[in-house]
Amino acid sequence: MALSKKPYKGCRDFFPKDMRIRDFLFDKMKQTATRFAYEAYDGPLLEEVNLYKAKSGEELINDQIYSFTDRGNREVAIRPEMTPTLARMVANIHKELPKPIRWYSIPNLLRYEKPQRGRVREHWQFNVDIFGAPENLGEIEILSLIVEFLLSFGATKEMFSILINDRKVVDTVFKKLLSLEDEQAYKLYKVIDKSKKVTTEKLDHMISEIIDEESKKEIFKTYINIKTVSELKNFLEKHNVINECSQFLSFLEMTQNLFFNEYIKYDPTIVRGLDYYTGLVFEIFDEHPENNRAIAGGGAYANLLQIFNESPMGGIGFGLGDVTLKDFLESHNLLGDFSKAENDLLLVYTNDEEEIETMQLAHKLRGENLKIETHLGKIKFNKIFKLAESKGHNFVGIVESKDGTISVQIKNLKDKSTDTIQVNEIEKIKTYIM
Ligand code: HAM
Repeated sequence: MALSKKPYKGCRDFFPKDMRIRDFLFDKMKQTATRFAYEAYDGPLLEEVNLYKAKSGEELINDQIYSFTDRGNREVAIRPEMTPTLARMVANIHKELPKPIRWYSIPNLLRYEKPQRGRVREHWQFNVDIFGAPENLGEIEILSLIVEFLLSFGATKEMFSILINDRKVVDTVFKKLLSLEDEQAYKLYKVIDKSKKVTTEKLDHMISEIIDEESKKEIFKTYINIKTVSELKNFLEKHNVINECSQFLSFLEMTQNLFFNEYIKYDPTIVRGLDYYTGLVFEIFDEHPENNRAIAGGGAYANLLQIFNESPMGGIGFGLGDVTLKDFLESHNLLGDFSKAENDLLLVYTNDEEEIETMQLAHKLRGENLKIETHLGKIKFNKIFKLAESKGHNFVGIVESKDGTISVQIKNLKDKSTDTIQVNEIEKIKTYIM
């Protein structure tokens, strides 16, 4: 039986045309992170399952994780997210490092998902996290970084929003206003997390399974229908719990005069599916009608280091997926043309006598950091230009020997101009094709 040529379900082959885009996206990620002075890190593809069981949440563990028992009887998992690995690594060395700790990574992650637009089984995720930052300042830096990242592609205000909420606000509503026990509160978190994906009837039913008192159900419904920060303030004031939510309110006040304020929208249904978040939670929402999803998600987590018996040190960060980013850029026409490779010069010769000279010239020009392809073997004149264009060259150079001198006739494939330069005049050749 012949084997399938397709990759495993939900996973992608990256042919050179796909790698051009991936490299472009990763370069942008690295540029933005380093511009904010974040340093690169990476971890292993496999971790013990317990690392995720500790705080990642039931959906990830029950439905999405790829796990197995290794030959030494250890329960291991292919990383479905980076934050637990990051916390483990920070727990190892945080005492030696000046604070705040600013790290970024672009790991590939595997989740057992139903493949669909914006969702695959293997994706790459730009992770940026800060540890040990003063109150609210880490949150502000992380949001500034994401917005600057998206703006660097030419994105504008209509294209995306930052939907935000705070787990402390939700906890206050659950504990103080609804008097829920921990287990009920946990269940209601999962209900809110799914609230946009189900019908109103289904949502009502799910709420009734957790809250039975009518008056409390009303409070909850009022809460999840809040649309603006001022409605939130009124709600918290009315129920006398504004002090419990003061950190979030002062964060919102600080953002008011910052460049990314116009992107922020308060959304009470943003709670995030992962269990470790304790403060600000956010999703960067793609406003294009075809991409009804988050490009990125993240938040603040105060207690992750404690699972390694380390003293608490809060972290804030986000993960931004390569698939959702590419969908975003394509739908908003922000991704350039990657259909061809970008090379500088195709060097060819039409007679065998020029073969060695061509190789020598290519060697010298590569030494000048130029992207040079040599056509292997002599080529017929009428085939040269078509070949050069199909391979993404901007210039073609034909090496020729005449009356004892060897020169290269260079043609600019865009403006069709030509020049003939001796092969030892490297600077002149370089200037011409730069
Ligand atoms: P997450 O919300 O699970 O968060 O994932 C973050 C982003 O990764 C999503 O918004 C989406 O763009 C992308 N993503 C997730 N799953 C898939 C998938 N199956 N296919 C394609 N893209 C996907 C986290 O993973 C947190 N650990 C992020 C974080 C970092 N929080 C703090 N620091």
